[in-house]
Amino acid sequence: MSHATNLQVEPEDGTSREILLPSNRQSLADLLAAHGLPLNARCGQRGLCRGCEVELRSGTAMVDGKPVAAPAVIKACRARLESDAAIFVPARSRIEHRPQVGETFEIAVPYAHQPLFPFVSGGRDTALAVDVGTTTVVVLLVDLTTGEVLSRAGAFNEQIRFGDNVVTRIEAARNAETLVAMQRAIVTETIQPLLAQACERAGRGPERIAGGAIAGNTAMLHLLVGADPTPLGIAPFTPRFIQGRQVSVADIPLQAEGLAPETPLQLLPGIAAYLGADITAGVFASGMVFDERPSLLVDIGTNGEIVLQADGKLFGCATAAGPAFEGSGLRCGTRAREGAVSDLNLKLNPFALETEVIGDVPLARANGLCGSAYVDFLATARSSGLLGVTGRFEAGAWEALPEQCRFLHEGRRAFRLAARNGADDLRVSEVDVALLLQAKAAIGAGVEVLLAAAGIRAAELGRVYLAGGFGMHLNVAHAIAIGLLPGFREEQVRVVGNTSLAGALLALVDRTTLDEMEALREQVSVIELNLADGFEDRYIEHPRGPAAGTPAL
Ligand code: FES
Repeated sequence: MSHATNLQVEPEDGTSREILLPSNRQSLADLLAAHGLPLNARCGQRGLCRGCEVELRSGTAMVDGKPVAAPAVIKACRARLESDAAIFVPARSRIEHRPQVGETFEIAVPYAHQPLFPFVSGGRDTALAVDVGTTTVVVLLVDLTTGEVLSRAGAFNEQIRFGDNVVTRIEAARNAETLVAMQRAIVTETIQPLLAQACERAGRGPERIAGGAIAGNTAMLHLLVGADPTPLGIAPFTPRFIQGRQVSVADIPLQAEGLAPETPLQLLPGIAAYLGADITAGVFASGMVFDERPSLLVDIGTNGEIVLQADGKLFGCATAAGPAFEGSGLRCGTRAREGAVSDLNLKLNPFALETEVIGDVPLARANGLCGSAYVDFLATARSSGLLGVTGRFEAGAWEALPEQCRFLHEGRRAFRLAARNGADDLRVSEVDVALLLQAKAAIGAGVEVLLAAAGIRAAELGRVYLAGGFGMHLNVAHAIAIGLLPGFREEQVRVVGNTSLAGALLALVDRTTLDEMEALREQVSVIELNLADGFEDRYIEHPRGPAAGTPAL
């Protein structure tokens, strides 16, 4: 005679219940979900995270086919119950799956509400999540009781005046006084006012702040804490620290009226010198570590950082693409901001030029082109026959352009989008095209090297996560066409925004992810592209030859 089996469930919130075990032996996680207690199954129930842990308080469970007797902590996704049992479900294992959507990111994984810092409701119950980008810095204020984002403030990193890219700032830090000045620029001149803004918007004072989580590339985190980053500038590129570390606000020093000096700030761990905490954060926030099919994270900022996940293995590399896609070094290049041309479509026969400028500014008053518009230009100028296979303007096609679009200087051709009163004409030159092709070749070749290392083809990837501000305006089809995302299909690509910020937020609201981020360093095979077989050939081939079936550029 079969025996009806009961499960006593005691969630941490005290709403205990009794479940009659069904005869079909579901996993304990599925069983709980079916009874209104979904768990934080971050790895998709593959036994890879600790998100679904419960305490077995009495009875025996079969875990991965082996009997485990109480008392024990078990992963509910790997457990089945066959006899009476009692379990306790800690609050940290309960799911909190309301997506945290800011203006520029979303968290693509479920997470538990288990804040990184202890909090007192109505007292110190607020925290900050910060993304320290080379170009921009964003501060979020978060309610630790609910995990809700209260406010957001962003601005350019004031260190820009010491150089717009990491390499230049590392070089500048050779001078001890400049190092101090750069720390002041990020802490006092950037984060401090952003925190004040965020506090004002949230209607909460700094005295309620219990702690913060900070993501950023390795050099930015060095500069934040005043550590000398110069070893990052020379082989073997050894960071002074790469693991996560906690400092206090007084250490750096971040000041605000009422902010307790001992308030902790958690710096997220990085993977390697050029795969920093921003990438660790991205790997988690995108959810790629938990994807069943191979997936790729591409973060195109001042450089290109790429991580590939295939069969649970991770491969990562950083490309020396340079900041061309942020508009740097180009005649009319600019960052994505109000007044920048962000979208462009060019056709010949008959000629047509369509543009979009951020903030609805007329084209003649645009202040430049940002990276996404340059990608559009490369793709449409090539497909229309204006650009040849080597990246030069085709003489016949260029001559046939309307006169106002032809720009010739010292024998060099350029395409003029608009004449601007009192300013340089808005144009794209062959020199610009050459720089852009170098940058896209570095990223495209980096992607191909990782795919080769994992022994898979682009078509086999389930997802390509495109992170960073650059992706937000990007025409994905054009990025594929020029070989920046070589060999992919549009439907594989998902633009995920500022995953560095999203990862800082994730660590703040679910502290178990911090341990998992720390463990990531051991799991990623970092490929040094300059030593990688075939990278140089792929890089050189990229500007001239087609990338996996895309039009040649
Ligand atoms: S969901 Fe159970 S271990 Fe990840």
